[in-house]
Amino acid sequence: MSQLVFDCEEFCCYIHCLLSKMVVSVILALMLVSCTCGENPAIQVVLTEKGLQYGKHVGAGWIQEKLEVVTLPDISGKVYIGIGSVSYTLTGVRITKCDFPEPSVEFTESPAGFKTSTSGLSIAVTGGWRTRYGAIHDGGTFDMALFNVDVTSVVELGKDPDGHMSVTSVSCDAHIGGLDINFYGGASWIFEPFVEHFKGRIRAEIEDKICPTVEEYIVNTEQSLQAMNVSFDVNEDLTLDIPLTGLPVIENSSLNLGFKGEFYSIKTHQEPPFEAQPFVMPVKSGYMLSAGLSEFTVNSAFYGYYSAGLLQAIINDSMIPSTSPVHLNTSLMGPFIPQLPKMFPGLLMTLQVYATDVPQVSFHSGAVKMGSMAAVKAFAIQPNSTQTPLFKLLVDSEFSSKVWIAEERLRGSMTMENFTLSLDSTEVGTFNTDALASVAKMGVQLTLSKVNKQLTEGIMLPRLKHAQLVNPVLTLEEGFIAICSDAELLEDIDFN
Ligand SMILES: *[C@@H]1O[C@H](CO)[C@@H](O)[C@H](O)[C@H]1NC(C)=O
Ligand SMILES: *[C@@H]1O[C@H](CO)[C@@H](O)[C@H](O)[C@H]1NC(C)=O
Ligand SMILES: *[C@@H]1O[C@H](CO)[C@@H](O)[C@H](O)[C@H]1NC(C)=O
Ligand SMILES: *[C@@H]1O[C@H](CO)[C@@H](O)[C@H](O)[C@H]1NC(C)=O
Ligand SMILES: *[C@@H]1O[C@H](CO)[C@@H](O)[C@H](O)[C@H]1NC(C)=O
Ligand SMILES: *[C@@H]1O[C@H](CO)[C@@H](O)[C@H](O)[C@H]1NC(C)=O
Repeated sequence: MSQLVFDCEEFCCYIHCLLSKMVVSVILALMLVSCTCGENPAIQVVLTEKGLQYGKHVGAGWIQEKLEVVTLPDISGKVYIGIGSVSYTLTGVRITKCDFPEPSVEFTESPAGFKTSTSGLSIAVTGGWRTRYGAIHDGGTFDMALFNVDVTSVVELGKDPDGHMSVTSVSCDAHIGGLDINFYGGASWIFEPFVEHFKGRIRAEIEDKICPTVEEYIVNTEQSLQAMNVSFDVNEDLTLDIPLTGLPVIENSSLNLGFKGEFYSIKTHQEPPFEAQPFVMPVKSGYMLSAGLSEFTVNSAFYGYYSAGLLQAIINDSMIPSTSPVHLNTSLMGPFIPQLPKMFPGLLMTLQVYATDVPQVSFHSGAVKMGSMAAVKAFAIQPNSTQTPLFKLLVDSEFSSKVWIAEERLRGSMTMENFTLSLDSTEVGTFNTDALASVAKMGVQLTLSKVNKQLTEGIMLPRLKHAQLVNPVLTLEEGFIAICSDAELLEDIDFN
Protein backbone atom coordinates (compact mmCIF):
# COMPACT_ATOMS: atom_id res chain seq x y z
CA MET A 1 0.00 0.00 0.00
CA SER A 2 2.62 2.47 1.06
CA GLN A 3 5.93 2.90 -0.61
CA LEU A 4 9.12 4.25 0.77
CA VAL A 5 12.24 4.49 -1.28
CA PHE A 6 15.12 4.83 1.07
CA ASP A 7 18.39 5.51 -0.62
CA CYS A 8 20.83 4.39 2.00
CA GLU A 9 23.66 3.25 -0.19
CA GLU A 10 26.05 6.10 0.59
CA PHE A 11 24.99 6.08 4.15
CA CYS A 12 25.74 2.40 4.56
CA CYS A 13 29.03 2.80 2.86
CA TYR A 14 30.32 5.19 5.47
CA ILE A 15 29.30 2.95 8.28
CA HIS A 16 30.10 -0.44 6.90
CA CYS A 17 32.84 -0.04 4.41
CA LEU A 18 35.06 0.20 7.41
CA LEU A 19 35.53 -3.53 7.21
CA SER A 20 36.64 -3.56 3.64
CA LYS A 21 38.82 -0.53 4.35
CA MET A 22 40.55 -2.70 6.84
CA VAL A 23 41.15 -5.25 4.15
CA VAL A 24 42.79 -2.52 2.14
CA SER A 25 44.91 -1.40 5.05
CA VAL A 26 46.28 -4.90 5.37
CA ILE A 27 47.00 -5.16 1.66
CA LEU A 28 48.70 -1.79 1.76
CA ALA A 29 50.79 -2.97 4.66
CA LEU A 30 51.95 -5.81 2.45
CA MET A 31 52.86 -3.52 -0.40
CA LEU A 32 54.99 -1.40 1.87
CA VAL A 33 57.89 -3.47 1.80
CA SER A 34 56.70 -0.82 -2.62
CA CYS A 35 53.24 -11.81 -11.37
CA THR A 36 54.80 -17.28 -13.94
CA CYS A 37 54.22 -20.32 -11.97
CA GLY A 38 56.02 -23.32 -10.61
CA GLU A 39 59.11 -21.24 -9.81
CA ASN A 40 60.69 -20.78 -6.44
CA PRO A 41 60.08 -17.31 -5.10
CA ALA A 42 63.29 -15.30 -4.74
CA ILE A 43 61.59 -12.71 -2.55
CA GLN A 44 59.27 -13.64 0.28
CA VAL A 45 57.27 -11.28 2.41
CA VAL A 46 55.65 -12.42 5.62
CA LEU A 47 52.99 -10.45 7.45
CA THR A 48 52.61 -11.71 10.99
CA GLU A 49 49.63 -11.61 13.30
CA LYS A 50 51.27 -8.61 14.97
CA GLY A 51 51.42 -6.80 11.63
CA LEU A 52 47.81 -7.67 10.84
CA GLN A 53 46.61 -6.31 14.17
CA TYR A 54 48.63 -3.12 13.71
CA GLY A 55 47.16 -2.63 10.22
CA LYS A 56 43.68 -3.10 11.59
CA HIS A 57 44.29 -0.69 14.45
CA VAL A 58 45.51 2.04 12.09
CA GLY A 59 42.61 1.37 9.71
CA ALA A 60 40.08 1.55 12.54
CA GLY A 61 41.52 4.84 13.82
CA TRP A 62 41.38 6.26 10.33
CA ILE A 63 37.72 5.28 9.95
CA GLN A 64 36.81 6.72 13.34
CA GLU A 65 38.38 10.05 12.34
CA LYS A 66 36.57 10.13 9.01
CA LEU A 67 33.24 9.29 10.61
CA GLU A 68 33.50 12.29 12.92
CA VAL A 69 33.66 14.80 10.10
CA VAL A 70 31.59 13.19 7.42
CA THR A 71 28.43 14.78 6.02
CA LEU A 72 26.21 12.25 4.39
CA PRO A 73 24.47 12.82 1.07
CA ASP A 74 20.81 13.70 0.97
CA ILE A 75 18.35 10.84 1.21
CA SER A 76 15.18 11.22 -0.86
CA GLY A 77 12.07 9.12 -1.26
CA LYS A 78 8.31 9.02 -1.38
CA VAL A 79 5.73 7.97 1.20
CA TYR A 80 2.28 7.05 -0.01
CA ILE A 81 -0.30 8.18 2.54
CA GLY A 82 -3.66 7.22 1.00
CA ILE A 83 -4.38 10.66 -0.41
CA GLY A 84 -1.27 10.64 -2.61
CA SER A 85 2.52 10.55 -2.44
CA VAL A 86 4.53 12.76 -0.16
CA SER A 87 8.05 13.35 -1.44
CA TYR A 88 10.59 13.75 1.26
CA THR A 89 14.27 14.60 1.47
CA LEU A 90 16.53 14.05 4.45
CA THR A 91 19.25 16.60 4.14
CA GLY A 92 22.46 17.74 5.89
CA VAL A 93 22.71 14.37 7.57
CA ARG A 94 25.55 14.36 10.10
CA ILE A 95 26.80 11.68 12.43
CA THR A 96 26.33 12.94 15.97
CA LYS A 97 27.60 9.95 17.81
CA CYS A 98 29.39 6.87 16.75
CA ASP A 99 30.19 4.05 19.06
CA PHE A 100 32.70 2.16 17.05
CA PRO A 101 34.11 -0.81 18.89
CA GLU A 102 37.53 -2.00 17.73
CA PRO A 103 36.77 -4.61 15.08
CA SER A 104 38.52 -7.96 15.02
CA VAL A 105 40.59 -9.32 12.17
CA GLU A 106 42.06 -12.79 11.95
CA PHE A 107 43.83 -14.88 9.36
CA THR A 108 41.92 -17.83 7.95
CA GLU A 109 43.91 -20.78 6.62
CA SER A 110 41.29 -22.22 4.34
CA PRO A 111 40.47 -20.32 2.26
CA ALA A 112 43.72 -18.37 2.68
CA GLY A 113 42.53 -14.94 3.61
CA PHE A 114 41.10 -13.15 6.56
CA LYS A 115 37.94 -12.60 8.45
CA THR A 116 36.98 -9.20 9.77
CA SER A 117 34.12 -8.58 12.10
CA THR A 118 32.63 -5.65 13.90
CA SER A 119 29.97 -6.17 16.47
CA GLY A 120 27.96 -3.74 18.52
CA LEU A 121 28.48 -0.72 16.28
CA SER A 122 26.00 2.03 17.07
CA ILE A 123 25.60 5.24 15.19
CA ALA A 124 23.35 8.25 15.62
CA VAL A 125 22.65 10.80 12.92
CA THR A 126 20.75 14.05 12.77
CA GLY A 127 19.59 16.21 9.92
CA GLY A 128 16.77 18.12 8.34
CA TRP A 129 13.72 16.82 6.52
CA ARG A 130 11.62 18.43 3.81
CA THR A 131 8.37 17.17 2.37
CA ARG A 132 6.37 18.16 -0.64
CA TYR A 133 2.78 17.11 -1.17
CA GLY A 134 1.49 18.81 -4.31
CA ALA A 135 2.09 22.52 -3.66
CA ILE A 136 2.42 22.07 0.08
CA HIS A 137 5.96 22.29 1.39
CA ASP A 138 6.97 21.45 4.90
CA GLY A 139 10.15 20.79 6.83
CA GLY A 140 11.84 20.14 10.15
CA THR A 141 14.55 18.04 11.72
CA PHE A 142 15.01 14.37 12.49
CA ASP A 143 17.18 11.95 14.49
CA MET A 144 17.96 8.41 13.59
CA ALA A 145 19.94 5.78 15.47
CA LEU A 146 21.15 2.36 14.40
CA PHE A 147 22.03 -0.04 17.22
CA ASN A 148 24.09 -3.18 17.50
CA VAL A 149 25.19 -3.36 13.92
CA ASP A 150 27.19 -6.55 13.32
CA VAL A 151 29.10 -7.18 10.11
CA THR A 152 31.32 -10.17 9.36
CA SER A 153 33.20 -10.49 6.13
CA VAL A 154 35.56 -13.22 4.91
CA VAL A 155 37.88 -12.52 2.01
CA GLU A 156 40.09 -14.91 0.14
CA LEU A 157 43.51 -13.98 -1.20
CA GLY A 158 44.61 -15.53 -4.46
CA LYS A 159 46.70 -14.96 -7.52
CA ASP A 160 45.65 -14.23 -11.06
CA PRO A 161 47.43 -15.72 -14.12
CA ASP A 162 49.65 -12.65 -14.42
CA GLY A 163 50.76 -12.97 -10.82
CA HIS A 164 48.81 -10.10 -9.32
CA MET A 165 47.40 -10.75 -5.90
CA SER A 166 43.64 -11.12 -6.02
CA VAL A 167 41.08 -10.60 -3.31
CA THR A 168 37.54 -11.98 -3.43
CA SER A 169 34.66 -11.90 -1.03
CA VAL A 170 33.84 -15.37 0.30
CA SER A 171 31.05 -14.46 2.65
CA CYS A 172 29.46 -11.46 4.25
CA ASP A 173 26.83 -11.24 6.94
CA ALA A 174 25.24 -8.09 8.25
CA HIS A 175 22.71 -7.58 10.97
CA ILE A 176 21.19 -4.44 12.46
CA GLY A 177 19.98 -4.96 16.02
CA GLY A 178 17.67 -1.95 16.13
CA LEU A 179 16.72 1.35 14.51
CA ASP A 180 14.98 4.42 15.85
CA ILE A 181 13.84 7.43 13.86
CA ASN A 182 12.07 10.57 15.09
CA PHE A 183 10.83 13.61 13.16
CA TYR A 184 10.45 17.10 14.69
CA GLY A 185 8.99 20.43 13.61
CA GLY A 186 6.70 21.37 10.73
CA ALA A 187 3.80 19.03 10.36
CA SER A 188 5.94 16.13 11.44
CA TRP A 189 2.79 14.48 12.72
CA ILE A 190 2.20 13.48 9.10
CA PHE A 191 5.11 11.10 9.37
CA GLU A 192 4.56 9.83 12.89
CA PRO A 193 1.82 7.27 12.12
CA PHE A 194 4.04 5.71 9.51
CA VAL A 195 7.27 5.65 11.46
CA GLU A 196 6.63 2.39 13.29
CA HIS A 197 5.43 0.81 10.09
CA PHE A 198 8.48 1.77 8.10
CA LYS A 199 11.13 1.25 10.74
CA GLY A 200 11.31 -2.44 9.94
CA ARG A 201 11.57 -1.73 6.24
CA ILE A 202 14.23 0.92 6.59
CA ARG A 203 16.19 -1.47 8.77
CA ALA A 204 15.86 -4.29 6.24
CA GLU A 205 16.82 -1.98 3.41
CA ILE A 206 19.95 -0.76 5.14
CA GLU A 207 20.79 -4.29 6.22
CA ASP A 208 20.41 -5.60 2.67
CA LYS A 209 22.72 -2.95 1.32
CA ILE A 210 25.59 -3.47 3.74
CA CYS A 211 27.04 -6.61 2.16
CA PRO A 212 26.69 -5.52 -1.47
CA THR A 213 28.51 -2.32 -0.48
CA VAL A 214 31.27 -4.22 1.30
CA GLU A 215 31.53 -6.54 -1.72
CA GLU A 216 31.65 -3.63 -4.12
CA TYR A 217 34.51 -2.22 -2.13
CA ILE A 218 36.35 -5.54 -2.32
CA VAL A 219 35.82 -5.57 -6.10
CA ASN A 220 37.32 -2.06 -6.28
CA THR A 221 40.29 -3.22 -4.25
CA GLU A 222 40.67 -6.19 -6.59
CA GLN A 223 40.64 -3.81 -9.56
CA SER A 224 43.40 -1.69 -8.05
CA LEU A 225 45.46 -4.82 -7.45
CA GLN A 226 44.97 -5.88 -11.08
CA ALA A 227 46.15 -2.47 -12.22
CA MET A 228 49.39 -2.71 -10.29
CA ASN A 229 52.58 -3.36 -12.22
CA VAL A 230 54.37 -6.59 -11.52
CA SER A 231 57.44 -5.40 -13.38
CA PHE A 232 59.43 -2.22 -12.78
CA ASP A 233 62.32 -0.61 -14.57
CA VAL A 234 64.82 0.05 -11.79
CA ASN A 235 67.21 2.00 -13.99
CA GLU A 236 67.94 2.31 -17.71
CA ASP A 237 69.53 -1.15 -17.80
CA LEU A 238 67.51 -3.39 -15.52
CA THR A 239 63.91 -4.31 -14.96
CA LEU A 240 62.68 -6.20 -11.89
CA ASP A 241 59.90 -8.79 -12.22
CA ILE A 242 57.92 -9.35 -9.06
CA PRO A 243 54.81 -11.33 -9.87
CA LEU A 244 53.56 -13.73 -7.21
CA THR A 245 54.95 -17.21 -7.88
CA GLY A 246 52.26 -19.04 -5.98
CA LEU A 247 49.11 -18.61 -3.98
CA PRO A 248 49.34 -16.61 -0.77
CA VAL A 249 49.80 -19.06 2.10
CA ILE A 250 48.55 -18.65 5.63
CA GLU A 251 50.28 -20.77 8.19
CA ASN A 252 51.22 -20.33 11.83
CA SER A 253 49.18 -17.12 12.03
CA SER A 254 51.06 -15.34 9.33
CA LEU A 255 50.62 -14.60 5.67
CA ASN A 256 53.45 -15.58 3.34
CA LEU A 257 53.72 -14.14 -0.16
CA GLY A 258 56.30 -15.43 -2.62
CA PHE A 259 57.48 -13.15 -5.42
CA LYS A 260 59.60 -13.98 -8.44
CA GLY A 261 62.21 -11.31 -7.66
CA GLU A 262 64.21 -11.58 -10.85
CA PHE A 263 66.14 -8.83 -12.61
CA TYR A 264 66.40 -8.81 -16.38
CA SER A 265 68.46 -6.77 -18.75
CA ILE A 266 66.09 -4.41 -20.58
CA LYS A 267 68.27 -4.86 -23.67
CA THR A 268 68.58 -8.68 -23.82
CA HIS A 269 65.85 -9.95 -21.46
CA GLN A 270 67.86 -13.19 -21.31
CA GLU A 271 67.08 -15.86 -18.76
CA PRO A 272 70.14 -16.66 -16.60
CA PRO A 273 71.57 -20.20 -16.66
CA PHE A 274 70.77 -20.63 -12.95
CA GLU A 275 67.54 -20.87 -10.96
CA ALA A 276 66.17 -19.61 -7.68
CA GLN A 277 66.58 -22.14 -4.88
CA PRO A 278 63.80 -22.62 -2.34
CA PHE A 279 64.26 -21.12 1.11
CA VAL A 280 62.22 -21.17 4.29
CA MET A 281 61.70 -17.89 6.07
CA PRO A 282 62.38 -18.09 9.80
CA VAL A 283 59.27 -17.51 11.93
CA LYS A 284 59.67 -14.19 13.76
CA SER A 285 56.26 -13.52 15.27
CA GLY A 286 57.68 -10.67 17.39
CA TYR A 287 57.96 -8.50 14.28
CA MET A 288 55.15 -7.20 12.09
CA LEU A 289 56.86 -8.01 8.83
CA SER A 290 59.76 -9.95 7.46
CA ALA A 291 61.17 -10.00 3.99
CA GLY A 292 63.61 -12.51 2.57
CA LEU A 293 65.78 -11.87 -0.45
CA SER A 294 67.46 -14.79 -2.18
CA GLU A 295 70.98 -14.60 -3.57
CA PHE A 296 69.27 -15.41 -6.87
CA THR A 297 67.83 -11.88 -7.06
CA VAL A 298 71.28 -10.30 -6.72
CA ASN A 299 72.83 -12.76 -9.16
CA SER A 300 70.08 -12.16 -11.72
CA ALA A 301 70.98 -8.45 -11.62
CA PHE A 302 74.63 -9.31 -12.30
CA TYR A 303 73.53 -11.60 -15.11
CA GLY A 304 71.41 -8.82 -16.57
CA TYR A 305 74.41 -6.47 -16.69
CA TYR A 306 76.68 -9.27 -17.93
CA SER A 307 74.35 -10.38 -20.73
CA ALA A 308 74.06 -6.79 -21.94
CA GLY A 309 77.87 -6.47 -22.03
CA LEU A 310 77.86 -3.79 -19.38
CA LEU A 311 80.41 -5.35 -17.05
CA GLN A 312 83.38 -3.77 -18.76
CA ALA A 313 85.45 -0.64 -18.57
CA ILE A 314 88.29 1.09 -20.32
CA ILE A 315 90.90 2.47 -17.96
CA ASN A 316 93.38 5.09 -19.16
CA ASP A 317 96.09 6.99 -17.39
CA SER A 318 93.99 10.08 -16.71
CA MET A 319 91.83 7.96 -14.38
CA ILE A 320 94.81 6.97 -12.28
CA PRO A 321 95.51 9.38 -9.40
CA SER A 322 98.75 11.31 -9.92
CA THR A 323 99.97 10.10 -6.51
CA SER A 324 99.79 6.49 -7.63
CA PRO A 325 103.16 4.68 -7.80
CA VAL A 326 102.04 3.05 -11.05
CA HIS A 327 101.12 4.80 -14.28
CA LEU A 328 99.85 3.53 -17.58
CA ASN A 329 103.00 4.52 -19.41
CA THR A 330 105.18 1.88 -21.04
CA SER A 331 108.39 3.64 -19.90
CA LEU A 332 107.32 3.22 -16.26
CA MET A 333 106.40 -0.48 -16.51
CA GLY A 334 110.02 -1.74 -16.25
CA PRO A 335 109.70 -3.05 -12.67
CA PHE A 336 106.78 -5.29 -13.77
CA ILE A 337 107.53 -6.14 -17.39
CA PRO A 338 111.25 -5.49 -17.96
CA GLN A 339 111.10 -5.82 -21.77
CA LEU A 340 108.17 -3.40 -22.27
CA PRO A 341 110.00 -0.02 -21.99
CA LYS A 342 112.54 -1.27 -24.54
CA MET A 343 109.94 -2.55 -27.02
CA PHE A 344 107.56 0.44 -26.75
CA PRO A 345 109.25 3.41 -25.10
CA GLY A 346 107.26 6.41 -23.86
CA LEU A 347 103.75 5.34 -24.86
CA LEU A 348 100.60 5.69 -22.82
CA MET A 349 98.57 2.54 -22.24
CA THR A 350 94.92 1.65 -21.89
CA LEU A 351 93.45 -1.33 -20.07
CA GLN A 352 90.29 -2.99 -21.24
CA VAL A 353 88.74 -4.76 -18.23
CA TYR A 354 85.75 -7.06 -18.60
CA ALA A 355 84.02 -9.85 -16.71
CA THR A 356 84.65 -13.25 -18.28
CA ASP A 357 81.83 -14.81 -16.30
CA VAL A 358 78.84 -13.65 -14.27
CA PRO A 359 79.94 -12.46 -10.82
CA GLN A 360 78.43 -14.74 -8.18
CA VAL A 361 77.14 -13.67 -4.81
CA SER A 362 76.24 -16.22 -2.17
CA PHE A 363 74.64 -15.60 1.20
CA HIS A 364 75.80 -17.68 4.14
CA SER A 365 74.92 -17.46 7.78
CA GLY A 366 77.09 -14.62 8.96
CA ALA A 367 78.71 -13.62 5.66
CA VAL A 368 78.16 -12.62 2.07
CA LYS A 369 80.67 -14.02 -0.39
CA MET A 370 81.29 -12.65 -3.82
CA GLY A 371 83.47 -14.01 -6.58
CA SER A 372 84.33 -12.47 -9.90
CA MET A 373 86.40 -13.49 -12.89
CA ALA A 374 87.71 -10.82 -15.15
CA ALA A 375 90.17 -10.33 -17.96
CA VAL A 376 92.41 -7.31 -18.51
CA LYS A 377 93.73 -6.55 -21.99
CA ALA A 378 96.55 -4.01 -22.13
CA PHE A 379 97.28 -1.84 -25.16
CA ALA A 380 99.95 0.72 -26.00
CA ILE A 381 98.67 3.87 -27.71
CA GLN A 382 100.85 4.68 -30.72
CA PRO A 383 101.45 8.31 -31.69
CA ASN A 384 99.05 7.77 -34.62
CA SER A 385 96.40 6.56 -32.03
CA THR A 386 96.61 2.93 -33.09
CA GLN A 387 96.23 0.62 -30.11
CA THR A 388 98.84 -2.11 -30.14
CA PRO A 389 97.88 -5.16 -28.05
CA LEU A 390 100.47 -6.04 -25.39
CA PHE A 391 99.14 -8.82 -23.17
CA LYS A 392 96.04 -10.26 -21.50
CA LEU A 393 95.70 -11.11 -17.79
CA LEU A 394 93.06 -13.15 -15.99
CA VAL A 395 92.01 -11.91 -12.58
CA ASP A 396 90.15 -14.12 -10.14
CA SER A 397 88.99 -12.47 -6.95
CA GLU A 398 86.89 -13.37 -3.94
CA PHE A 399 85.48 -11.04 -1.36
CA SER A 400 83.63 -11.62 1.82
CA SER A 401 81.51 -9.14 3.70
CA LYS A 402 79.32 -8.74 6.70
CA VAL A 403 76.21 -6.60 6.67
CA TRP A 404 73.90 -5.47 9.41
CA ILE A 405 71.43 -2.71 10.19
CA ALA A 406 72.14 -0.26 12.97
CA GLU A 407 70.50 3.11 13.66
CA GLU A 408 68.27 2.62 10.61
CA ARG A 409 71.29 2.40 8.34
CA LEU A 410 72.69 -0.49 6.42
CA ARG A 411 76.26 -1.02 7.52
CA GLY A 412 78.92 -3.51 6.74
CA SER A 413 82.51 -4.35 6.11
CA MET A 414 84.22 -6.02 3.23
CA THR A 415 87.47 -7.94 2.96
CA MET A 416 89.39 -9.50 0.11
CA GLU A 417 89.64 -13.26 0.52
CA ASN A 418 91.60 -14.24 -2.53
CA PHE A 419 93.13 -12.54 -5.50
CA THR A 420 95.00 -14.32 -8.24
CA LEU A 421 96.39 -12.87 -11.40
CA SER A 422 97.70 -14.94 -14.29
CA LEU A 423 99.04 -14.26 -17.74
CA ASP A 424 96.67 -15.56 -20.41
CA SER A 425 98.43 -14.43 -23.58
CA THR A 426 101.16 -11.98 -24.49
CA GLU A 427 102.51 -10.12 -27.55
CA VAL A 428 105.56 -8.86 -25.64
CA GLY A 429 106.96 -12.17 -24.40
CA THR A 430 106.35 -13.85 -21.10
CA PHE A 431 106.93 -12.19 -17.70
CA ASN A 432 106.40 -12.94 -14.03
CA THR A 433 103.05 -11.53 -12.82
CA ASP A 434 103.89 -11.50 -9.08
CA ALA A 435 104.98 -7.87 -9.02
CA LEU A 436 101.91 -6.77 -10.98
CA ALA A 437 99.68 -8.88 -8.72
CA SER A 438 100.95 -7.23 -5.56
CA VAL A 439 100.43 -3.76 -7.03
CA ALA A 440 96.95 -4.70 -8.21
CA LYS A 441 96.15 -6.08 -4.75
CA MET A 442 97.24 -2.79 -3.22
CA GLY A 443 94.92 -0.99 -5.59
CA VAL A 444 92.03 -3.27 -4.60
CA GLN A 445 92.81 -2.78 -0.90
CA LEU A 446 92.82 0.95 -1.39
CA THR A 447 89.40 0.79 -3.06
CA LEU A 448 88.12 -1.51 -0.31
CA SER A 449 89.21 0.91 2.39
CA LYS A 450 87.13 3.62 0.70
CA VAL A 451 84.16 1.24 0.41
CA ASN A 452 84.56 0.24 4.06
CA LYS A 453 84.65 3.86 5.15
CA GLN A 454 81.28 4.33 3.48
CA LEU A 455 79.92 1.06 4.88
CA THR A 456 80.94 2.11 8.39
CA GLU A 457 79.06 5.38 7.98
CA GLY A 458 76.18 3.32 6.69
CA ILE A 459 73.74 3.71 3.85
CA MET A 460 70.27 5.10 4.56
CA LEU A 461 67.62 2.46 4.12
CA PRO A 462 65.27 3.37 1.27
CA ARG A 463 62.28 5.29 2.53
CA LEU A 464 58.97 3.70 1.84
CA LYS A 465 56.15 5.77 0.46
CA HIS A 466 53.61 5.31 3.22
CA ALA A 467 55.53 3.73 6.03
CA GLN A 468 58.71 3.66 7.93
CA LEU A 469 60.50 0.64 9.27
CA VAL A 470 60.96 0.55 13.02
CA ASN A 471 63.89 -1.35 14.54
CA PRO A 472 64.69 -3.40 11.45
CA VAL A 473 67.05 -6.33 11.97
CA LEU A 474 69.00 -7.97 9.19
CA THR A 475 70.24 -11.52 9.36
CA LEU A 476 72.28 -13.49 6.87
CA GLU A 477 71.08 -17.03 6.29
CA GLU A 478 72.11 -19.85 3.95
CA GLY A 479 71.04 -18.68 0.51
CA PHE A 480 69.12 -15.60 1.54
CA ILE A 481 69.11 -12.44 3.57
CA ALA A 482 66.23 -11.68 5.93
CA ILE A 483 65.00 -8.38 7.29
CA CYS A 484 62.50 -8.42 10.15
CA SER A 485 60.92 -5.20 11.20
CA ASP A 486 58.07 -3.40 12.77
CA ALA A 487 56.53 -0.65 10.70
CA GLU A 488 54.86 2.63 11.29
CA LEU A 489 52.30 3.84 8.79
CA LEU A 490 52.73 7.52 8.04
CA GLU A 491 49.91 9.89 8.86
CA ASP A 492 49.24 11.11 5.35
CA ILE A 493 48.12 7.65 4.30
CA ASP A 494 44.81 7.62 2.46
CA PHE A 495 42.97 4.34 2.25
CA ASN A 496 40.62 5.56 -0.45
C1 LIG B 1 53.13 0.43 -15.16
O1 LIG B 1 54.08 0.24 -16.18
C2 LIG B 1 53.81 0.99 -17.36
C3 LIG B 1 54.81 0.60 -18.41
O2 LIG B 1 56.08 0.38 -17.86
C4 LIG B 1 53.85 2.48 -17.01
O3 LIG B 1 53.57 3.23 -18.14
C5 LIG B 1 52.83 2.78 -15.92
O4 LIG B 1 52.93 4.12 -15.52
C6 LIG B 1 53.07 1.89 -14.72
N1 LIG B 1 51.98 2.07 -13.77
C7 LIG B 1 52.19 2.28 -12.47
C8 LIG B 1 50.99 2.43 -11.64
O5 LIG B 1 53.32 2.33 -12.00
C1 LIG C 1 54.59 -23.69 11.25
O1 LIG C 1 54.89 -24.23 12.50
C2 LIG C 1 55.22 -25.60 12.45
C3 LIG C 1 55.40 -26.09 13.88
O2 LIG C 1 55.99 -25.10 14.67
C4 LIG C 1 56.49 -25.79 11.63
O3 LIG C 1 56.83 -27.15 11.53
C5 LIG C 1 56.25 -25.23 10.23
O4 LIG C 1 57.43 -25.29 9.46
C6 LIG C 1 55.78 -23.79 10.32
N1 LIG C 1 55.44 -23.32 9.00
C7 LIG C 1 55.93 -22.20 8.49
C8 LIG C 1 55.49 -21.84 7.11
O5 LIG C 1 56.69 -21.47 9.09
C1 LIG D 1 90.53 8.64 -20.66
O1 LIG D 1 89.15 8.28 -20.66
C2 LIG D 1 88.28 9.36 -20.39
C3 LIG D 1 86.89 8.80 -20.31
O2 LIG D 1 86.64 7.87 -21.32
C4 LIG D 1 88.44 10.41 -21.47
O3 LIG D 1 87.58 11.51 -21.16
C5 LIG D 1 89.88 10.88 -21.52
O4 LIG D 1 90.06 11.77 -22.58
C6 LIG D 1 90.83 9.71 -21.69
N1 LIG D 1 92.17 10.15 -21.55
C7 LIG D 1 93.12 9.81 -22.39
C8 LIG D 1 94.48 10.35 -22.10
O5 LIG D 1 92.91 9.10 -23.38
C1 LIG E 1 105.91 8.36 -19.90
O1 LIG E 1 106.87 8.36 -18.89
C2 LIG E 1 108.13 8.91 -19.34
C3 LIG E 1 109.16 8.75 -18.23
O2 LIG E 1 108.67 9.34 -17.02
C4 LIG E 1 107.93 10.38 -19.69
O3 LIG E 1 109.12 10.93 -20.15
C5 LIG E 1 106.86 10.47 -20.78
O4 LIG E 1 106.55 11.81 -21.04
C6 LIG E 1 105.59 9.77 -20.37
N1 LIG E 1 104.70 9.74 -21.49
C7 LIG E 1 103.55 10.37 -21.51
C8 LIG E 1 102.75 10.32 -22.76
O5 LIG E 1 103.12 10.98 -20.50
C1 LIG F 1 100.49 3.52 -36.59
O1 LIG F 1 101.83 3.38 -36.08
C2 LIG F 1 102.28 2.03 -35.93
C3 LIG F 1 103.63 2.06 -35.25
O2 LIG F 1 104.43 3.07 -35.76
C4 LIG F 1 102.29 1.31 -37.27
O3 LIG F 1 102.74 -0.02 -37.11
C5 LIG F 1 100.90 1.37 -37.85
O4 LIG F 1 100.90 0.81 -39.15
C6 LIG F 1 100.37 2.79 -37.93
N1 LIG F 1 98.98 2.73 -38.32
C7 LIG F 1 98.45 3.59 -39.18
C8 LIG F 1 97.00 3.39 -39.51
O5 LIG F 1 99.10 4.45 -39.67
C1 LIG G 1 92.53 -18.69 -4.23
O1 LIG G 1 92.23 -19.01 -5.58
C2 LIG G 1 93.05 -20.01 -6.16
C3 LIG G 1 92.72 -20.12 -7.63
O2 LIG G 1 91.36 -20.07 -7.84
C4 LIG G 1 92.85 -21.30 -5.39
O3 LIG G 1 93.71 -22.31 -5.90
C5 LIG G 1 93.17 -21.07 -3.91
O4 LIG G 1 92.86 -22.23 -3.16
C6 LIG G 1 92.33 -19.89 -3.37
N1 LIG G 1 92.75 -19.59 -2.02
C7 LIG G 1 91.88 -19.38 -1.04
C8 LIG G 1 92.47 -19.02 0.28
O5 LIG G 1 90.68 -19.46 -1.22
